[in-house]
Amino acid sequence: MKTVTIVGTQWGDEGKGKITDYLALQADVVVRFQGGNNAGHTIRFEGKKFALHLVPSGIFNSETLNVLGNGMVIDPLALHHELTMLDREGVEVDPEKIIVSDRAHVIMPYHKTLDLMFESLKKKNQKVGTTAKGIGPSYMEKTSRQGMRMIDFIHEERFRKHLTNHLPYINKLLKTFGFETFELRTLLETYAPIQERIKPYVKNTSKIVYDLINDGKKVLFEGAQGTMLCLDHGTYPYVTSSSPTASGIALNTGISPQMIHNVLGVTKAYTTRVGGGYFATEFKGARAEKIRTQGNEFGTTTGRPRRIGWLDVVILKHAKRVNGLTHLAVMLLDVLKGIHPLKICVGYRIDGEIIDDVPAAIDDYEKCEPVYIEMAGFSEDITQVKQYDDLPLNARLYVEKIAELADVGLSMVSVGPDRTQTIVIKELYE
Ligand code: IMP
Repeated sequence: MKTVTIVGTQWGDEGKGKITDYLALQADVVVRFQGGNNAGHTIRFEGKKFALHLVPSGIFNSETLNVLGNGMVIDPLALHHELTMLDREGVEVDPEKIIVSDRAHVIMPYHKTLDLMFESLKKKNQKVGTTAKGIGPSYMEKTSRQGMRMIDFIHEERFRKHLTNHLPYINKLLKTFGFETFELRTLLETYAPIQERIKPYVKNTSKIVYDLINDGKKVLFEGAQGTMLCLDHGTYPYVTSSSPTASGIALNTGISPQMIHNVLGVTKAYTTRVGGGYFATEFKGARAEKIRTQGNEFGTTTGRPRRIGWLDVVILKHAKRVNGLTHLAVMLLDVLKGIHPLKICVGYRIDGEIIDDVPAAIDDYEKCEPVYIEMAGFSEDITQVKQYDDLPLNARLYVEKIAELADVGLSMVSVGPDRTQTIVIKELYE
């Protein structure tokens, strides 16, 4: 059985949650491998709406195992709240259904303060616009070998020892820049019940996932954020602190790279971005407002209005290369109803030359002007369309053009937020 991976091809918020939810219905195992509660997936079905930040979407199927991999950074309080919310809604959350890597790093409250502090120390146009969830500072401690892992968090003595050694250093840093410091005793008291709550979930997930793949189980890897927010392949420094690409999976889950098979790239039919950083195809005004309203383009985690732009095939081709995309899902096509003409960016003009890749230097990227092709739009409501051939001709021509330019076959087209508003062209678990 081949594994399936879902990755965002843009700056996140491509609608991956909905596709994960759809594929999770078929999967035995759903694995998250990077990021933390900076992510937010909204899942709608049977008239209910859930916003998930840490727990994979397979949680809604009674038979699916959900894994939080070693490449994640986990805020135990946020995990506790999410488990409590799911439990309250009648969703089963016992440790047979969710497992957390013993090697995943922990986000403590001081990481969130550091996140705010680092942002506040930057000049206005240098701010990344983080989600303020402590993601960057937790990964910083991981790479500087000062971090705390889940295996330490759930162990009373190791937890106390880590904080006793580390907190004076953190407090010194916070005090230097006038930020509130943290007390050892308060942290120990606050986290004692959380340690007990999380302990049964913490396992060697690498071994479990590896064995399940070898047993022929259907495994789904769920990427958070998107390729352009990748620490290595995104628009650095306006990125997140992890690798949301398919290449990140082996390292961040502890399985073999040869176990990554089908890779589904999820793209909106247009582009959005939240936070700072250059966005070549961005546009503002009434048309952007129309798309923002029709597409409900506000962050799931922070509620910030998303910036809006045309679809950009330069970044789609970049995403194809760095992820090895085998299939494409085009999301939110219905939102483009009544927009005429539709534009697709096929290259960038820089210093009189046309290029078709993303420059590494951000100041070069800021000089790039998009080169567009135009296509006729469609005026029909497509939210009830179930079969691909029933889409209006112009809508089909538009998505087919995207697939042709990116040179990736279409797997799905989404025409509305509900689970049922998904047109499947090619199933991935066959
Ligand atoms: P951080 O991940 O909180 O450090 O934020 C870094 C950048 O990534 C900011 O521009 C955020 O807006 C962006 N970002 C992080 N998570 C998401 C997401 O799930 N969707 C979209 N943007 C995100």
